[in-house]
Amino acid sequence: MAEATLVVRGGRLVDAAGERVADVTVSGGHVTAVGTDLPVPPGALVLDARSCVVAPGLVDLHTHLRQPGREEAETVETGARAAALGGYTAVVAMPNTDPPLDCAGAVREVLELARDAACEVRVAGAITRGRRGESLAPMAEMAALGVRLFTDDGDGVQDGALMRRALEYSSDLGVTVAQHCEDAALAAGGHMHEGEWSSRLGIPGAPAAAEEVMVGRDLALLAITGRARLHLQHLSTAGSVAALRSARAEGLAVTAEAAPHHFSLTDAAVASYDPVFKVNPPLRPQAHVDAVVAGLGDGTLDAIATDHAPHPPEEKERPFDQAPPGMLGLETALALALTELDLPLQRVLALMSWQPARIAGLESTHGGPIVESRPANLCVIDPAATWEVDPARLASRSRNTPFVGRKFTGRVRHTVLRGEPVVVDGEAVR
Ligand code: DOR
Repeated sequence: MAEATLVVRGGRLVDAAGERVADVTVSGGHVTAVGTDLPVPPGALVLDARSCVVAPGLVDLHTHLRQPGREEAETVETGARAAALGGYTAVVAMPNTDPPLDCAGAVREVLELARDAACEVRVAGAITRGRRGESLAPMAEMAALGVRLFTDDGDGVQDGALMRRALEYSSDLGVTVAQHCEDAALAAGGHMHEGEWSSRLGIPGAPAAAEEVMVGRDLALLAITGRARLHLQHLSTAGSVAALRSARAEGLAVTAEAAPHHFSLTDAAVASYDPVFKVNPPLRPQAHVDAVVAGLGDGTLDAIATDHAPHPPEEKERPFDQAPPGMLGLETALALALTELDLPLQRVLALMSWQPARIAGLESTHGGPIVESRPANLCVIDPAATWEVDPARLASRSRNTPFVGRKFTGRVRHTVLRGEPVVVDGEAVR
């Protein structure tokens, strides 16, 4: 066995198998031993994990890295660094870039940009050419490059027959179709959730039904498609969670995610008219938030996914109805989950690490378990650390976080990617 180059010392290891206190030694990108009082070879880097949790690195199913085309908002490099600081060792980059990631060449370009990034970057390919919703993109050539998720995120696939074809084709390719559930006609002109607050504020709203109609349609399509796998993105309404719960009870091959802002903010925040609270799907009233929280707690929802959506200040500072939707997520998601959700730590990690790893097709390299010979993709979390976001210190190139002033308990101390430290004592080192 090669001598360890890195030792993660004295942490409480938490993975899908359970928990135990142990040291972890790493060499050549892999875990070489897990045990108590392991020797530290001369020259090995020691990461102190005493009073901390050592977990498989987090996996984000929903990250906007904005490259190519919107580099003033984010780049693969800055977004990956933000992810590493948030405890992520892998993210799935959304294809609504400019141009969109809808062919092998575009996918290759992002993978190339990500070669030395601070986390592993996988690409979600577009379902339709140009994300225009008219004809299928060349999914096979993207799948051949390792693309496992396809989505037109930012827009839902409006044409039901085309969505049916995408599901059929995806099952032949062994990939998953992910849907941004939004009926464009129902949502048209809406800038927030349609309800009491939109009436009071005089801001046009989009109804919860705009999401729920597409959830219902796609579950019906999945039922007639046989072997396909469907993943529902950023679910935000009580009706969506209820529909998902009964579809799962029927045994449909559907998975789903919720975003941190949908379990921690309500549409009352829009009363400030601050576009930092504009996001799509929009923030909802408490009853919807409660349904999302319940879905995360009872296993109906499979993953917490950030929908990290960077936008530069000049765009987010426009009037509410003109500002683009979206908020940052990577650097605050874990702290929000630990602070806001009354769930055991292992359950939070299931939602943020091994379950999303499986949905992304990354389970052989990410999401643990923490055992000898597995790739060393790890994060070390101090569950008692208290902190607040300082927007000036975010690694993201953008600043549109709605969580300034929020007090968090739980912080990422170290992140290890393929055996190399990328975050040490809360500072990015790559
Ligand atoms: O709020 C959002 N922002 N929702 C989306 O679906 C797209 C995303 C973006 O790309 O900014």
